[in-house]
Amino acid sequence: MEKIFGLIGSTVSHSFSKSYFDEKFFRDGLRDHRYELFPLEKIQDIQTLLKENEGLCGLNVTLPYKEQVLKYLHEIDPEAEKIGAVNVIRVQKGKLKGYNTDSAAFFETIEKWLPKDRTFNALVLGSGGSSKAVRQALTKLGVEHKIVSRDKSTGDFSYEEINSQPKEIASSLLIINTTPLGMHPNTDSLPPLDLEKLTKNHYVYDLIYNPARTQFLQKAEMRGATIKNGLEMLHVQAEKSWQIWNN
Ligand SMILES: NC(=O)c1ccc[n+]([C@@H]2O[C@H](COP(=O)([O-])OP(=O)(O)OC[C@H]3O[C@@H](n4cnc5c(N)ncnc54)[C@H](OP(=O)(O)O)[C@@H]3O)[C@@H](O)[C@H]2O)c1
Repeated sequence: MEKIFGLIGSTVSHSFSKSYFDEKFFRDGLRDHRYELFPLEKIQDIQTLLKENEGLCGLNVTLPYKEQVLKYLHEIDPEAEKIGAVNVIRVQKGKLKGYNTDSAAFFETIEKWLPKDRTFNALVLGSGGSSKAVRQALTKLGVEHKIVSRDKSTGDFSYEEINSQPKEIASSLLIINTTPLGMHPNTDSLPPLDLEKLTKNHYVYDLIYNPARTQFLQKAEMRGATIKNGLEMLHVQAEKSWQIWNN
């Protein structure tokens, strides 16, 4: 039977996952493998999706369902459980097992990117599924970090608070955007952080990869910061998803 893989999320048109797996299946001669985009209006629709796609072997999960999907899983990998978010599902005999490859992919890519001879304090913008994965990786790296959220109760600072404390932004030399602000097709938006405080000593990582340089990264670069987008992370997490589906 044909093996089906795919991506679930509220909007999935921005994603490069399909082209990544289409190319992989073509290159490896996997003619009976197919990767599809499955936009879901609500997470409950995952049940219909499973019924309608008998050959489904694996799913990637994108916003805003990385946390909401947990209650539909039969089993959760301990690491993903600790993180509290799932971005990969393996489907076997109708049973769903959830994993998190975002965290390891972020860890690998940031570890290579940051200079080894410096210590960093980080600000993580957003408190959703990928924020949880990023925070787990930062903890493993020994990077102290604080969360900036629209709602103070889900973070350490609201945007208003952090913007009124310029020293906090100036001394947080690593800033990571885990919000979808700036992602295709809403490329004009950006997180409301006061970027005037950035310097050439700052490292700014945006998990968004489409567009390659968000407004946020462009403004950070104009202030002299070193920037990185989420494309390498996407590729690393996709390859880790593939290993899980084939294990
Ligand atoms: N490169 C990669 O491999 C990779 C991997 C994972 C995710 N991503 C990208 O990361 C982004 C977030 O994904 P996710 O799955 O973490 O989404 P999510 O679970 O929905 O979380 C996003 C968080 O962003 C904040 N946010 C949402 N809308 C906002 C708004 N209008 N203004 C300010 N903040 C807002 C919220 O945090 P607060 O409520 O705390 O403000 C929310 O919890 C997406 O663009 C996704 O494509 C990329």
